[in-house]
Amino acid sequence: MAKSPITLQEFEQLKHSATFTEEDEHWLRVAGDILADQTEELVGKWREVIAAQNHLARYSQKPDGEKDARYSERSGLRFQQWVLDTCLRPYDQDWLNYQQEMALRHTSGKKNKTDNVRSAPTIHLRHVIAFNAVLGDPSIIKPFLAKNGHRAADIEKMHQAWSKSLWLQAALWSEPHTASGAERVVGQMRGVIQHRVGCFISFEKG
Ligand code: HEM
Repeated sequence: MAKSPITLQEFEQLKHSATFTEEDEHWLRVAGDILADQTEELVGKWREVIAAQNHLARYSQKPDGEKDARYSERSGLRFQQWVLDTCLRPYDQDWLNYQQEMALRHTSGKKNKTDNVRSAPTIHLRHVIAFNAVLGDPSIIKPFLAKNGHRAADIEKMHQAWSKSLWLQAALWSEPHTASGAERVVGQMRGVIQHRVGCFISFEKG
């Protein structure tokens, strides 16, 4: 499991940047209770958007363009769990670590590995970010949030909290792609090179 490069203290600052408050946490809990038995249908709606566009659908297909039902089903179940985690789990160190893990599972670092499949090696960050427009689209999610008959003003608060969480997660998921992610990779490469050079020198010395 990945470890988040973001500390809890840095994440606190990020929450402030997004004006994510305890009130938002409260409304996410309310949303989670409402969505709990609707995640399959909700994820299905989002996935319709992906399936309708070849340039997105190809990310979960086999290299020859065939559908991979097993891959879609298994990653879909984890997608459903993510809805519940977003609403109901505390945003603690474990959650931060899993954010990094999910981010990596959309990159060549870890994509395809969990389900042991052959498919596109990476999902470009631009599409992950743009897809937030779909995950936050009120015309899709608000009817689900309205299921238990809450007032429109409360549904709006749930939607606000949901949207802020999407922004926070997009910020966290950018990590493997951005400067601090790149710095880490360079650091790791430097370590490997130093190790190899060290081995070579000791070999030369006999
Ligand atoms: C904000 C945007 C997105 C979110 C929140 C999201 C959410 C998720 C989640 C929760 C998982 C399961 C992670 C796990 O293994 O626990 C997942 C996996 C996956 N998602 Fe996304 N996703 C996003 C964007 C996209 C886009 C744009 C595509 C492609 C059209 C996509 C395709 C996939 C695929 C193929 C997997 C399986 C990855 C693997 O091999 O493990 N996702 N996504």
